Amino acid sequence: MARRVVITGLGLITPLGVGVKTTWERLLQGKSGIVSTLNRGDDAYNTIPSKVAGFVPEGSGGYKNGEWHASEWIMPGDDRRMGRYTQFTMSVAAQALKDAGYIAETELQKERTGICIGTGIGNIDDTYESILTFEKNGYRKVSPLMVPRMLLNMAVGFVSMKYGFKGPNHSVTTACTTGLHSIGDAARFIKFGDADVMVAGGSEACISPYSLAGFARAKSLAIDFNDNPATASRPFDRDRNGFVMGEGAGAVVLEELDHANKRGANIYAEVVGYGLSGDAHHITAPPASGDGILLSMKSAIRQAGIAPKDIGYINAHATSTQQGDAAENRAAKRLMLEGVGSGVVSEWNGLKKNYAHEINISSTKGATGHLLGAAGAVETIFTVLAMKYGKLPPTINIENLEPDSEFTCNYVPNEAQDYDLKYALSNSSGFGGTNATLCLARDIL
Ligand SMILES: *[C@@H]1O[C@H](CO)[C@@H](O)[C@H](O)[C@H]1NC(C)=O
Ligand SMILES: *[C@@H]1O[C@H](CO)[C@@H](O)[C@H](O)[C@H]1NC(C)=O
Ligand SMILES: *[C@@H]1O[C@H](CO)[C@@H](O)[C@H](O)[C@H]1NC(C)=O
Repeated sequence: MARRVVITGLGLITPLGVGVKTTWERLLQGKSGIVSTLNRGDDAYNTIPSKVAGFVPEGSGGYKNGEWHASEWIMPGDDRRMGRYTQFTMSVAAQALKDAGYIAETELQKERTGICIGTGIGNIDDTYESILTFEKNGYRKVSPLMVPRMLLNMAVGFVSMKYGFKGPNHSVTTACTTGLHSIGDAARFIKFGDADVMVAGGSEACISPYSLAGFARAKSLAIDFNDNPATASRPFDRDRNGFVMGEGAGAVVLEELDHANKRGANIYAEVVGYGLSGDAHHITAPPASGDGILLSMKSAIRQAGIAPKDIGYINAHATSTQQGDAAENRAAKRLMLEGVGSGVVSEWNGLKKNYAHEINISSTKGATGHLLGAAGAVETIFTVLAMKYGKLPPTINIENLEPDSEFTCNYVPNEAQDYDLKYALSNSSGFGGTNATLCLARDIL
């Protein structure tokens, strides 16, 4: 019998709030987490053409108010050892484990529990500061904590130490696909028997004038909405002109199905397909065709053994850029209307009627901005919640779809929609040409 993998716990930190409940409620209400970067005590923000970002709301009210308050999640003194993305990781791992009601008590349980959490950029600001210090003051002023604060897998180390997890100790970094690859790879560790339980996800906290400068120089960021930050991230809208950088983290507890059933765990969804573009197991080999996102979707659906028309909802990667959103839209339509090729064929395949308007695809980045290495994990959680509550989260800020364009799907514009869906996809792609898709099923059949 093939081992099956289910999701039994969720943890979230986003610009909409800290915690799954706060974030999900605000997402369904169509709220935006995007604010101005001005008046944040750093004049360098003034020099960047894009003056908007999705900061995690902070406040002493903490978790119960949906606010970030570091001392709720880490021990005194740990803030010196832990960069911000690591602090976020500690929080979402704790949230997800609590939600799952899972504690590894015996030595065997500890050996069978692992972690796979990544970050796309890491503590770039720390690195920057540290280089300045070295340049100015020399060797003796370089902090002995510089290296642990800088390493991209350090968050995983801290989580494993806190909970005593001795299973796979892994960290993925594939730019904006990081969070999705982390969950997909962790699901495979369980399938292949390397672990029974994995805490998996992504974390990112790199908003600073320096990192914004880099993305702005690459012409990736939204620059036309500095006066009205809440409208700056507008996937699929005619006037979209770049992404808005956000920060946050997402983690899930993945568990082998029998393991979850034996302890009576609450099961949110099953991971039924995981597609990576390139070959099925390696992320560095690009396919010759170039439409990688379509390939990754097809392979996720083929693994799930379902037809594209069974996919009730796609959480799009769409970051609010002109080309990216259009390419993804095209891929989704091709997937749904042409089928997946060998094996399962879409029942819509060959039908004359245009069913594109029945394709439900939204981008939650309108509300959160682009969380880079955390995006895939956060959006997988949104997809799980969409299935659990039968609600499609909206794409906010859609004011005009391009007339006579290819944008003819249902983008769930501005308001959540009720729909009892059984299967959903979450997509991610990243700089460097890497794409991945997870296929999730609500019911355990
Ligand atoms: C996991 O990896 C981190 C970082 O390399 C390390 O500090 C930690 O001790 C490892 N944990 C285990 C249980 O091996
Ligand atoms: C990933 O998707 C992007 C956008 O669709 C595409 O340009 C790129 O070639 C893809 N990469 C791979 C490895 O498939
Ligand atoms: C998309 O959602 C609508 C309800 O809003 C539903 O009628 C339709 O069947 C859905 N599409 C798919 C492919 O499930």
